[in-house]
This record gives sequence, structure tokens and C-alpha cells, in this order.
Amino acid sequence: PLRDEGPSGAAANGSAQQLPQTIIIGVRKGGTRALLEMLSLHPDVAAAENEVHFFDWEEHYSQGLGWYLRQMPVSAPHQLTVEKTPAYFTSPKVPERVHSMDPGIRLLLILRDPSERVLSDYTQVLYNHRQKRKPYPPIEQLLLRSDGRLDADYKALNRSLYHVHLRHWLRFFPLRRIHVVDGDRLIRDPFPEIQKVERFLKLSPQINASNFYFNKTKGFYCLRDGGRDRCLHESKGRAHPQVDPKLLNKLHEYFHEPNKKFFELVGRTFDWH
Ligand code: A3P
Repeated sequence: PLRDEGPSGAAANGSAQQLPQTIIIGVRKGGTRALLEMLSLHPDVAAAENEVHFFDWEEHYSQGLGWYLRQMPVSAPHQLTVEKTPAYFTSPKVPERVHSMDPGIRLLLILRDPSERVLSDYTQVLYNHRQKRKPYPPIEQLLLRSDGRLDADYKALNRSLYHVHLRHWLRFFPLRRIHVVDGDRLIRDPFPEIQKVERFLKLSPQINASNFYFNKTKGFYCLRDGGRDRCLHESKGRAHPQVDPKLLNKLHEYFHEPNKKFFELVGRTFDWH
């Protein structure tokens, strides 16, 4: 809730809540939290802390844009507001809804090797079950049908079919409105990827290489912000299950054609298996 609110909903110092001018739409386990945190290093960015799930959850969407606005952080007029909800990318009804809010919005999509994303997705659900002390099958059981072929109905596989989901977005947005962040590169060397995002969002170049340092213990880059060091939560950067190389090969083969279709769609290739 805002303090010192004037009749327009803006505070006396000009700060107010704004609808997002950019949204990180996914993909789940692509590195969406890392991207949001890194982008937040920029002084002209105000980020919603939690996943908002406005466009994909009926109980939120039915409450209208006023509800959405109230989920946004307080920001200054010159700041860009951003939220991230990774489920948007794979939810077919979302693109039209985002378009009807703002057809000129800039979209950020962070993707990584689709096979790796499947393992990460599985690991996430496994941990969720462990937390609730509920059993969860080994990954082989979810990936494979009884005839030894991959089970296309396994949700984690479907979410990695990037071309299928992107097509829904391209019905409503031109490609130039969608910036694809290379999630594998963001892990290995985040700064150049973040610079590209700054340019796409027409932000002044204010994030520096010195904002990132490699943390050997975590095995990932962490952030340095005004002398304050912080890494992402321990749930980010977890070990994935060891998978039989033959099964891994099956996964790579499974995604070969879909990846080609995706590359054609975006006019760009990625260094995926
Ligand atoms: P893993 O935990 O499977 O390695 P999301 O935030 O969309 O759920 O994505 C989580 C993924 O972000 C992690 O998946 C991790 O690989 C990736 N990631 C990218 N940069 C990271 C960083 N600097 N620290 C931790 N995780 C990072």
C-alpha cells in the first residue's frame, strides 16, 4: 500500500505503481530468477518480488488490471517495472491477454538446452515432493513408456518444445518485441547477456562486469551490488539426477527437430545438444 497517496494514486514524490513495461515470460527453470535479479541491478528497473501469475490464473485475471497494478512495486516515473512468471510462456491463453493489456510491451524469454531444462524441471518437482514428504518416481519412470520410447505426455518434455509455445506468442507479437536470453550463457558468463537485455529495453548501460563474481562454493555467479554480495537462493543451481547416457541420447534426439524448428522461427541458433 502506498503512503501519502494523492488523488491520482501517485505519491507526493512522484513514486507510484506502474503496470509492467516488460515481462519475463519464461521458461520455467530457464534462469528466470537469475535474470530478474541481475536486471534489478539497474537503477532504472523496479521488479516485482514474487511470481504474479496474473495472466495464467483465472482467480487473478478475473480481478482485472487494477489487481495486477497493485501487485507491482512502487517505482519512480523513469523506472521500468518488470515481473516474472515463468508459466506464462507455456500457457496458450496468455499471449492474447498480454497483448490486450499492451501490444507494445517488450517480452523477455530465457531459454536453456531443452534436455537440461527437463532435468532441472524434474529436480524442482522432486524437491517439492520431498518437502511435503511425498514420494516421487525416478526420472526414468516419467520419461519412458513401457515400450522404451519417450513419453510425450510427460509435462516436462512438452515444456521444452520451445517452438510450439513460441508460435502462440508470435500470433500476437512480432519477433522484435521478444528478446531471447541464452540461459546457458547467462550461467557461464552473465554480463554480456545482461548487456544485451539492457540494449533491448533501451536502458542506459549501467550494469557493470564488476557487478558479477564467480562464487566457487556455489559454482555459479553471484551479484555484487554497492559492496553487498549475494548469491541466489540455494534452490537455484541444484545438482541434477545422473541419467543413463543412452537415455540422455534419447532426449537429445527427441529435441533435435523441435530445436531446428525453433531456430528457424527466431532466425538464430543456440548451442544445444
Ligand atoms: P538448476 O537449479 O536446475 O541448476 P528458474 O529461476 O527459472 O527456476 O531457473 C533456475 C535455474 O537458473 C537454475 O537451474 C540455474 O541453473 C540457473 N541459474 C542461472 N544463473 C544462475 C546463478 N547465477 N545462480 C544460480 N542459478 C542460476
